[in-house]
Amino acid sequence: MTTLAIHGGTAVRAEAWPAWPHYGSDVQEAIARVGMSGKFHPMFGNETKTFEAAFAAYHGMPEAVAFSHGTTALMAALAAAGIGCGDEVMVPAYTYAASAGAVVEQNAVPIFVDSEPKSQGLDPEDLRRKITPATKAIMVVHVNGYPCDMDAVMAIAAEHGLMVIEDCSHAHGARYKGKLVGTIGHFGAFSIQHKKNLAAGTGGVTLTRDVAAAEQMRKIRNYEWHDIGHNWQINEFSSAIATVELGHLDEKNAIRRANAKKLIELLGEVPGITPLPGLPDTEPVYYNVILQYDAEAVGIPRELFVKAMAAEGIPINMFYQPLQRWPIFAKADFYGKGCPFQCPMREGGPVEYGSVSTPVAGAICRSVNLEIKVQPPCGEGEMKQIADAIRKILAARQELTSKLLKN
Ligand SMILES: Cc1ncc(COP(=O)(O)O)c(C=O)c1O
Repeated sequence: MTTLAIHGGTAVRAEAWPAWPHYGSDVQEAIARVGMSGKFHPMFGNETKTFEAAFAAYHGMPEAVAFSHGTTALMAALAAAGIGCGDEVMVPAYTYAASAGAVVEQNAVPIFVDSEPKSQGLDPEDLRRKITPATKAIMVVHVNGYPCDMDAVMAIAAEHGLMVIEDCSHAHGARYKGKLVGTIGHFGAFSIQHKKNLAAGTGGVTLTRDVAAAEQMRKIRNYEWHDIGHNWQINEFSSAIATVELGHLDEKNAIRRANAKKLIELLGEVPGITPLPGLPDTEPVYYNVILQYDAEAVGIPRELFVKAMAAEGIPINMFYQPLQRWPIFAKADFYGKGCPFQCPMREGGPVEYGSVSTPVAGAICRSVNLEIKVQPPCGEGEMKQIADAIRKILAARQELTSKLLKN
């Protein structure tokens, strides 16, 4: 049997995993152009206007408003949707902290909703159960690039008169029943920071069909004389990079899709390691390919398996807790004064996240998900290395776990 790299054997892959973002000379030219112009602030240059027009056109939407970050893009969308003190916003328990943090920054309270198992997005049944008279909006997240059940969410929103904000930070270019994500809810907000499918260093952008709401978001991101405002402007470098990369988005997403398909094909049937199927009639963009892990069926604890894969040269990320268990939310006190969780304007009393149950999201975080990076320049060679490393580890599972027991 081949010795595992974790035990001193030769790794399946010796070199570092291909880096992302993967830029060409057109990005260098864009950076040089902005640098030479000396106009880095969007009030003085044209790069942000160009990016907003291109992003809106790509989505067939009338309005796109760019921001400093995905978080501020979400906050502006929430503000324009009228969300504030005393309001509740439904947020998936399985997402990055910023989705729920943006809600708190608007002085509203995130209510954590469980995951539906095919896409791992918001579970419509749990969503319905958790709606109260204080619920004003639903934030969906197309987590890891797999579109969530938008028909069900939009139907529930219409029934209860709720705003829908799509957090598309993992899903630029993904489609749900032929529609691009971010164009289905009332607002679609995207991070374009360096890890994302559309990567521009830092930045964010929000789509809406509501021209007045777009106008309000433009005021919010730039101090206004008459309205409340912040300084949430994107910089011209990020906008210039984002415009170039938007031109490559479909081509790069196609590589992610081809890689995901190849990996699934190469893996074949592996008891205990099953690719996330996604929902029917959706086109995911694989910010991460999700392999669902069953430690009992594989016979190796998830953390040990991930360590063994890392030693073989294959990085895998994991999530550990649903958001309500993260210390910042569990304590329900962002700034030491209990707001907005104990706000007297909140109907229903102080928030207590300890009793919030999201069993599917809990399992996803604690034991199920393996997040695999398949972005370009990864190709068939890397997908084969992932499948080879998995097989190598499974073939040596007894050796792996017996050494664990001895240590
Ligand atoms: C799902 C999700 N929403 C929002 C954000 C926030 O984006 P940003 O880091 O650009 O503020 C992120 C960032 O990683 C994210 O993953």
